Amino acid sequence: MSLEAAKRHTLVAAARAASRGAYAPYSGFHVGAALLFDDGTVITGSNAENASYGLSLCAEAAAVAKALNAGRRGGLHAVAVLGGAADARGEAVPAGEPVTPCGRCRQVLNELAQLGGTDPVVLCIGADRTDELALSGLLPRAFGPANLA
Ligand code: THU
Repeated sequence: MSLEAAKRHTLVAAARAASRGAYAPYSGFHVGAALLFDDGTVITGSNAENASYGLSLCAEAAAVAKALNAGRRGGLHAVAVLGGAADARGEAVPAGEPVTPCGRCRQVLNELAQLGGTDPVVLCIGADRTDELALSGLLPRAFGPANLA
């Protein structure tokens, strides 16, 4: 399950860079997410908030939408997510516990994972440590496309 160090480094850097695209004027919590596919492709996303707060979009969901729009239908190998206040460069700086994907994002990630039959490792990045968790552990017994087949 553990991700090779070089891939891990690349993915974390991609998530951090993605957080620069966050639009988070209401929460001030800038999030970056990066998806690594089996062929080495990385697709990123960041959160997009809304004046109608409840309509805000999460970084992971944005990344999955981009991947689906690009024609991806599986091959999801790993995910990285981090969040925090932005530094002078606009990059999120994790300040506390590792950020795990919210419940909705777990379900959204599961769609891409289940389509391709993978169980991606999710790098949840915090100030002092990164947790590597299987998506199946974050969302056990997930409902997905297989249920509608
Ligand atoms: N957020 C994400 O982008 N991903 C998550 O998994 C958790 C929360 C965003 C939503 C909102 O813009 C901000 O973080 C604070 O909740």
